[in-house]
Amino acid sequence: PVLVLNFGSQYVQLIARRIRELGVYSQIVPFYEKVEKLLEKKPYAIILSGGPASVYMPKAPLPDERLYELNIPILGICYGLQAITFQLGGVVEKAQRQEYGRAKLQVLKEDPFFEGLPTGFDVWMSHADKVSRLPPDFEVLASSENSPYAVIRHREKPIYGVQFHPEVAHTQYGKEMLANFLFRVAKAEKNWQMEDFIERSIEEIRQKVGNKKVICALSGGVDSTVAFALTYRAIGNNLLGIFVDHGLLRKGEAQEVEGYFRAMNFPFKKVDASRLFLERLEGVEDPEEKRRIIGHTFIEVFERESRDFGAELLLQGTLYPDVVESAGIEGAQVIKTHHNVGGLPERMSLELLEPLRELFKDEVREIGKLLGVPEGILRRHPFPGPGLAIRILGEVKEEDLNILREADAIFIEELKKWGLYDKVWQAFAVLLPVKSVGVMGDVRTYERVVGLRAVDSVDGMTADWSKLPYEFLDHVMRRIINEVKGVNRVVYDISSKPPATIEWE
Ligand code: XMP
Repeated sequence: PVLVLNFGSQYVQLIARRIRELGVYSQIVPFYEKVEKLLEKKPYAIILSGGPASVYMPKAPLPDERLYELNIPILGICYGLQAITFQLGGVVEKAQRQEYGRAKLQVLKEDPFFEGLPTGFDVWMSHADKVSRLPPDFEVLASSENSPYAVIRHREKPIYGVQFHPEVAHTQYGKEMLANFLFRVAKAEKNWQMEDFIERSIEEIRQKVGNKKVICALSGGVDSTVAFALTYRAIGNNLLGIFVDHGLLRKGEAQEVEGYFRAMNFPFKKVDASRLFLERLEGVEDPEEKRRIIGHTFIEVFERESRDFGAELLLQGTLYPDVVESAGIEGAQVIKTHHNVGGLPERMSLELLEPLRELFKDEVREIGKLLGVPEGILRRHPFPGPGLAIRILGEVKEEDLNILREADAIFIEELKKWGLYDKVWQAFAVLLPVKSVGVMGDVRTYERVVGLRAVDSVDGMTADWSKLPYEFLDHVMRRIINEVKGVNRVVYDISSKPPATIEWE
């Protein structure tokens, strides 16, 4: 692979992405990884990412210095360039003028790094420090107005540094420069294809699992379904999926999801635990309390099934962003406890199997497609583990679940009909615990309010409300008020996240 040493840049994942897009497998590793560890992975090249620190500060993160003796091609990006400069004897200092945004790059010297590119183009900068003296044996290849050493390289060794960010879309020819580095400097081979990934994973899963049994909580979501399909290929019926119906699913969802699982021949067991969940939720109004109850009850049900099956491993559809993001954000505040199946592994002392932990979401979709996972699953919007319980504000009652199911189903059905479902990131209805006055056919009504929510987002961390057409909203409003008994008012949520969140609880 190509290894990306992580110095904490917000773009680390983007660097890894770009390299994979060029057909070369890449992995992100912590900046302090020792040379021995790095060599075990047989890297084509090593990239030092950007980061928020300053190399001249006392506790600045710096890589193992023996890195530069390996004769493996190295590319330092932004902070990475500064780390190279600092460690090899150059000088880095606070820039008089910080540089954020567009800058004109002027190429000064021909080099494989710029092959096929014009001699001047725009690049994207974001730095407060700069190189003020090159290390010995280095030369400058390109500069910008504020960064005389915008691209540098060692005269003999394949060690490069760039002050700008080739990985971001705003840098012209960013991808071409990365490709030049990978294929002309590092002589990397194109080896990242989904078919290869599938073959390799199946082999690894077999190795790891042997004859043991593996259990998985199936929800019908993209990640768990694709993880399941992949693992099923590897170990067949030593895998069991547990599909817990907690009574908080959407209209027709249980049947739909079951239908998909059956079509894929998945070995799974459906457990109808809706009574249990609803009983335990009786009288509970607080959102976090609801989450806790649902989480614990889920674990209880799942644990029993797992014991019956004799499972020793737990399969989870963890993705790369989950892995990288959970790797060290300290002091982050808990806004909502997103349980998913979190907490399961510790509590059940099962070994974890996470075959997708190297992948990004769109890569998972691609794998899913190759494995024959139906489009209907690959396209599905995210759905929270606690389900409709957090979309009924306040206490969850059976009759309210039914009202919400009908309203939500109309909204989703119309989104699909109007070709809008795939354009929004997530959409749903919520049921508010208030009544309002209306008039229907000359009669006063006093009924419930349904809120519609549709958002555009990339990862759910931030979101904006979707600008759905007025005619569409009008049509959905009409259908809901006419067809769903107990509702006489529909509102559309126009809050962004932040300051609101996507769900209402
Ligand atoms: P919020 O409401 O935090 O939602 O902006 C962001 C994304 O997370 C989903 N979500 C949850 N998922 N358990 C889950 O598995 C939860 O408790 C939970 N709460 C919110 C939400 O649907 C959105 O996609």
